[in-house]
Amino acid sequence: MAMIPDELIEQVRDAADAVALIGETVELKRTGSDYRGPCPFHGGTHRNFAVIPRKGRFYCYVCHEKGDVFSYFMKRFGMDYPTAVREVARRTGIDIPERPARSGPDPHEPLFSAVSAAQDWFARQLVESKDAEPARSYLTSRDVALEAVAPLGLGYSPAGRAFLAAMESLGVEEPVLLEAGLVVRRDDGSIIPRFRSRLLFPIHDLRGRVVGFGGRLLGPGEPKYLNSPETPIFSKGRMLYNLQAAKPAIRREESALVVEGYFDVLRLSLAGVEHVVAPLGTALTGEQAALLRRYTSSVTLLYDSDLAGLRATFRAGDELLRHGARVRVATMPPGEDPDTLVRAGGADALASVVAEAIDVMERKIQLLERRGWFAGVEHRRDALDRLLPTIRAATDAITRELYLSLVAERTGVSREVLEREAAEKPKAPVAASAPAGPRSDPRAERARPPQGSGRAPFGQTAERELLRVLFAAPDWLEQVREEITSDMLNNNELRQLYEKLLDVGAAAVEQLPPDLPEETQRAWARLKEAALTVNRPNLDKMVEGAVQQLRARPRVLEYRELRRRLAAARDEASKGELVEQLNRVAGGLRRDFPVEWSKESSHRRNAGTNPARQRE
Ligand code: UTP
Ligand code: MN
Repeated sequence: MAMIPDELIEQVRDAADAVALIGETVELKRTGSDYRGPCPFHGGTHRNFAVIPRKGRFYCYVCHEKGDVFSYFMKRFGMDYPTAVREVARRTGIDIPERPARSGPDPHEPLFSAVSAAQDWFARQLVESKDAEPARSYLTSRDVALEAVAPLGLGYSPAGRAFLAAMESLGVEEPVLLEAGLVVRRDDGSIIPRFRSRLLFPIHDLRGRVVGFGGRLLGPGEPKYLNSPETPIFSKGRMLYNLQAAKPAIRREESALVVEGYFDVLRLSLAGVEHVVAPLGTALTGEQAALLRRYTSSVTLLYDSDLAGLRATFRAGDELLRHGARVRVATMPPGEDPDTLVRAGGADALASVVAEAIDVMERKIQLLERRGWFAGVEHRRDALDRLLPTIRAATDAITRELYLSLVAERTGVSREVLEREAAEKPKAPVAASAPAGPRSDPRAERARPPQGSGRAPFGQTAERELLRVLFAAPDWLEQVREEITSDMLNNNELRQLYEKLLDVGAAAVEQLPPDLPEETQRAWARLKEAALTVNRPNLDKMVEGAVQQLRARPRVLEYRELRRRLAAARDEASKGELVEQLNRVAGGLRRDFPVEWSKESSHRRNAGTNPARQRE
């Protein structure tokens, strides 16, 4: 029988309703948070057999038989593991293909082997090589014992060509090294190792295979961290660092800690805090939120408490809320990050910070309150604008209710008004079912640049480009869907078409979908034609460029608006406030959307000093 991928097994386990499944063959009654019934394994008659829905597990207090949904089917009906998984999947409505999509060996096998060989070699360098002396003393200087990190597979990439020679002697060929992101080709055609003089953190996929690296410079320089590039086996926006190791602990603790960086994860793991993950040098993406959500619904964010850290916290918070998680924010003492905190105070210091974590909405309100944003009328409007996205993000019904009450209470704005405002920007599925047709769109208004700026509205071309590419290659939809919700498109026709794509997939490209307003039909026809000229080898770059621009748009517009307000500001106090906001927005842009940021800042270069805060 075909192997079932681990990811799919996890997905089945998460989606399975243990009470319903086991309840088909055991009569279960609710008792508190568990369900109880007579044990089918020892043939009991009293209700000693418990199903714990939260954990998806069963346990008999008499015969001590226990397990998850899969082992229930195995033990009860004598199935083997794959059969049990398929059985649970079938009843849960998850499709497991009978055969793997491609038969034969995994086509990525050479990449996995290459990265694994590289990791072995890097790890050996760190421990043995004379060249790695600086890396060893760097670890010592950060109070990290070599013996402790060696088992975690940390490595060192020396400068020079030793890596190339080592790979050659192992028979790893150049095209494979290139595709695996281990080497780069220079303009003159020569090949050099991608990682040079860096301490390397191996990055694993969910099956525990090394797929990439994060490499830290030992001294000052840029970039401080260099990650593997996107490769067929490594995608930084869809993986979480350390998740493969943290999985069991996350389930056990029924919560996950999210920190900013590799060193934070390392320090916490070494201190015995295991349920910790980090994004990979990007802001937490929707896909990462969804991934984490498969293991827990409770997440605590442990980011720096500086402005950039706060910004990242709230973005990650909204993303997690959108995926139905409960999100708490732990506040580090000023100037500390989880790494320094645990280094100085051990796991206990961390535990007390985590224990004092508060709900992300509470934290937002707390910060706004401290800055006096609820004091004046015009500030209150701004404060609301900051809180509404978080209310909108909360997809979990109870969380949303709580947020509405909380914000109503703190801002003095009635619940009805809040609900109306929160509904103004519909989420994708709602928009998809809304009656099509021209409508006035307040967002489109807002996105318009100030009069007389002379530039095309930011992102307008990107919207069209994205649709054009999707029309040319609808198989990109699954990836784009994760990053772009329909409400991120301002153009009515393009948005309607994108919603159709999300709804019915490639069919919306093949045939003109019914019930589209006339203007949208025309846009469809234009896109069909424009799609013919898409330059296919560049597809991924085009998608990536358009996606980044659209994701960055709200912040670029915010940045421009702030600059405009700063230019018009008269009194020192509001200037100070604006500069602070500008720095925050610029820092976030620089960090999360470096490409968009460099375009924006080069545009501004002549317009005065750039207030972007330098990270470190
Ligand atoms: P920080 O600069 O806050 O890193 O970036 P850190 O973990 O505290 O670094 P140390 O403690 O000085 O070693 C946080 C994370 O952002 C990503 C990395 O994932 C890093 O761990 N990052 C940062 C990059 O990808 N590139 C950079 O140039 C900087
Ligand atoms: Mn740090």
